[in-house]
Parts: sequence; structure tokens; C-alpha cells
Amino acid sequence: MEGPFDLKALAIERLTSKTLAPAVSIGNHKLIALEGITKIYLVEEIETHALSGIHLKIEPGEFVLISGPSGCGKSTLLSIIGLLDSPTDGSYQLGDKEVSGLSLDQRAHIRNREIGFIFQSFNLIGDLSVYENVELPLAYRGLKHSERKAMVLEALEKVDMIHRKNHLPNQLSGGQQQRVAVARALAGKPQILLADEPTGNLDSKNGKVVMEMLKNLNEAGATICMVTHDESYAKYARRIVHLFDGNIVDETTNTHTRN
Ligand SMILES: Nc1ncnc2c1ncn2[C@@H]1O[C@H](COP(=O)(O)OP(=O)(O)OP(=O)(O)O)[C@@H](O)[C@H]1O
Ligand SMILES: [Mg+2]
Repeated sequence: MEGPFDLKALAIERLTSKTLAPAVSIGNHKLIALEGITKIYLVEEIETHALSGIHLKIEPGEFVLISGPSGCGKSTLLSIIGLLDSPTDGSYQLGDKEVSGLSLDQRAHIRNREIGFIFQSFNLIGDLSVYENVELPLAYRGLKHSERKAMVLEALEKVDMIHRKNHLPNQLSGGQQQRVAVARALAGKPQILLADEPTGNLDSKNGKVVMEMLKNLNEAGATICMVTHDESYAKYARRIVHLFDGNIVDETTNTHTRN
């Protein structure tokens, strides 16, 4: 399943600040520090404990993989890390800021600057061109046209999609659509890239292309946190966090060389 993401919140963010300045600063802090994070969903008086006391710290520049069976809370965890949702309880320190209790608008402000998302089903907007899809999150920052253009073209160049910038998403292959989604995620130069099963709808060849892209972005300094079922991608991450029933049950460090 795609997970508990509010795509409308991602696309339609009313932002007030008009600068490129970071929304959080790292200094001596961990980039991400979760302490005792819980998430309880309440639907028709039935409680689901999607996360039950998660402790997780992520340093700048890490590549962390989150794995575990369907329904164990992976997407919920990613949506909390990505400020799409807030926890029921616990503390979330992002750089120098406690962000667990922020309002929707405050979360949107930080998310728009610091976090890029890549989803399994690409989630490009069908009646916008490749260029416009990548530009959309930047438009909400109130940047000048020339600044936006430079950032969009730089991002499309990184994923080798400039030659398709005027195409619509349905005129692209699945692999190409995901490359555009990667460009959209990285165009605003976020500190954190979050990916939920980014290769789930791709064949193995295109899956590898997207993984290589994430690997290159990580080597260039991006912090990446990725959810996957596919054990064959484990080699790309240094750390693998194993979730089960809303808890971190194991954590392994990858010593394999990445290739
Ligand atoms: N918006 C929601 N409202 C109510 N329950 C939810 C909501 N989102 C998720 N859940 C429940 O929380 C639990 C964790 O869901 P989550 O989507 O995080 O799992 P997942 O590990 O990402 O699974 P999958 O691998 O199938 O994507 C599930 O039991 C799910 O039914
Ligand atoms: Mg999921």
C-alpha cells in the first residue's frame, strides 16, 4: 500500500517565507533524533498502534534503510520523519528544533525546505509538464522565475531528463517518471531525502537506475532514509533498521561494498 501520505498537503502548501535559508540548523545536533515516538490511529473507535515507542537517530549523510513486513509501520514512520504527520507521543528533534508539536503550517514550512519525497507511484501531476512538476514545490517558496529555472534544470540534468522537459508524465516510461520524481525531490536542495518503496513499480533495470541515483546523491552529501521490501537493495545502505509491529526489533550495519 502507498501509505498514510497526505499528497494534497505536499502539493498545496501555503508558505510565507521567501528565502532559501535552511529551516533548521544542525550544528552539533543529530540531523534526526526520535525518542519514544508513538502513533495511534483511531478509526471508528478502533485503535491501531502503528508505532510503539520508536527511538532512532540519523546523522547527516547517512543512508538508512527501513525494512519490515506489510503493515509494520514503515510508511507511518517515514511520514512522521517527513513532517507529513505528527506523532501521538514522543519527541522528534530535527537539527536544532523540536518539531513533534508543530502546527500544520510550521511543518509545511520546514518540509518544503528540508525534505524531499519519492513515492512508489511517482505521484507526478498528470496535466503538468515534467518541467512544471519539478518546479511546483519551488513555486511555493516564492522564488524568482530565474532562480526556479536554474534549480529545475540542474535537477533534471542530474537525472538525465532535460530532453523530456516538455513532456507530460503519461508520455514517459515508469522509469523516466520516477527519475522526474527524484528531480522534484532534490530540486530544492533538501537536507533529507525520504523514499517509500521508490523501486516498487519499476522493473529491476529501472530500479537499479533509481538506486544508483540515490547512491550518488548520498555520496554528494544527501541524507537518505528509504523504505523497501526488496532485500537486494540492502547493499546500498550502511544501516538497516528492521521494524516489526511498530517497534524497531533489530538494526544491522552493512559491511558489503556497494556496487
Ligand atoms: N491513516 C490511517 N488511518 C488508520 N490506520 C492507518 C492509517 N495509516 C496506516 N494505518 C495503519 O497503521 C499500520 C501501519 O501502516 P503503514 O502504512 O505504516 O505500514 P507499512 O509498513 O508501510 O506497510 P506496507 O509495507 O504495506 O506499505 C497498519 O496497520 C495500517 O492499517
Ligand atoms: Mg508502506
